[in-house]
Amino acid sequence: MTQKFDLGPLKAILDGRRVSAGESVLQLHSHDESYHAPHLPDVVVWPHTTEEASRLVSWARQNKVPVVAWGAGTSLEGNPIPVRGGMVVDCTEMNRILAVRAEDFQVDVQAGVVYKDLNKQLARDGLFFPPDPGAAATVGGMIGNNASGIRSVRYGATKDYVMRLAVVLPDGSVIHVGNRARKSSSGYNLPALFTGAEGTLGLVTEATLKLVGLPATFMAVRAAFATPLQATTTVYTIMRAGLSPAAMEFLDANVMRVLNADRGLALDEHPTLLMEFSGYSRRGLAEEMAFVEEICREQGALTIDRGIGAEEKARLWEFRHQTYESIKRQHIGLSPLIMDVAVPLSRYSDMVEFCREEIRDLTGYLFGHAGDGNIHVHVMDEPQNPQRWARVEEATSRIVRQALAFEGTCTGEHGVGIGKIRFLEAEHGESLALMKKLKTLLDPDNLFNPGKIFL
Ligand code: LAC
Ligand code: ZN
Repeated sequence: MTQKFDLGPLKAILDGRRVSAGESVLQLHSHDESYHAPHLPDVVVWPHTTEEASRLVSWARQNKVPVVAWGAGTSLEGNPIPVRGGMVVDCTEMNRILAVRAEDFQVDVQAGVVYKDLNKQLARDGLFFPPDPGAAATVGGMIGNNASGIRSVRYGATKDYVMRLAVVLPDGSVIHVGNRARKSSSGYNLPALFTGAEGTLGLVTEATLKLVGLPATFMAVRAAFATPLQATTTVYTIMRAGLSPAAMEFLDANVMRVLNADRGLALDEHPTLLMEFSGYSRRGLAEEMAFVEEICREQGALTIDRGIGAEEKARLWEFRHQTYESIKRQHIGLSPLIMDVAVPLSRYSDMVEFCREEIRDLTGYLFGHAGDGNIHVHVMDEPQNPQRWARVEEATSRIVRQALAFEGTCTGEHGVGIGKIRFLEAEHGESLALMKKLKTLLDPDNLFNPGKIFL
């Protein structure tokens, strides 16, 4: 392949190394975990510092080369696919934990730190960073997508933990937004602007994250119901009862079947709620568990499995993080499209019923973060078969439009990427114009992750 531009200046910035246009490297950075068509970048670079990243971006700006930030490539909506080629800035070598400020419940990290590694280190100080999307994502990727996952029902999403950011703007300058105070009323909330912007407004290189104390112990309950409606009604009842689950997940009967097949388990193959609670004493948790069990029984639970302590939690939960992978593994040869809508809690049961109807004739699975009103509709099919894929896309459209009619959102946590662009007008109306103005203000040449969020 002929090189579009001279790699010499990039090598000069990165010690003569950490620059590659090799075929296999480009391939690895051409796709995420989604079905979206891959696209090769022209070059991949691995900066180690904000200063190096700033020099790379200045070069890209002078040469009008697109810049796409890259974390672990685990996103599900084509978010980091370099659809217009250009330079992929792989952040995985910017993976230092810069300072653990345990007394302040804060940590300073570089963007390429994998959150699971971060949490291993923080556990030594009895702390953790709660958002838990499951995949081995980097903190930078989580900020880009405002990732959340199973713990957001109790702890919120990534945006709730971003205190300060170092950002390389599209003009190559570096700004620091936010502060270290636990609260602030000072000016516009700029950390929030860059969180969830999917790398379209700037390149996040460092972050100060808020942390939480690790709970002393855990308790988990898995309850299976005859109908999805009974399961989803239980979500609301438990939250209304003043209980505070740390996770509250729904999985439909198809998901339970696939998990049994994939992992050799013997789980009850009915619509299921998976719950986690945490606290400071086993006795307190035992009381809470009895109450949760009572509510589940009143709502018609068929079987209930539960336990107290970290091992019991792991036993009851260990398959959940692998759900997406298990479904994929059981349909080799097909591609996944995972819809990710979220609605107000009062609409969750209706939304789940609607999704069930919509995917009746598809190979589809429903699971999600029920306590957040967030549902994933995971369909396995053939993108290369236009007729079949049109049917899948039609289901997506109808499901998203219903979520919007319920005053929800087209994506609870996977981001807009490529797949959700077509819904932004319907979701945001006139405020989409303001988003576009902000984009043009910061990135007038449309070089930062072009083709994402907007066309
Ligand atoms: C999950 C990912 C797919 O919830 O968001 O497992
Ligand atoms: Zn999820």
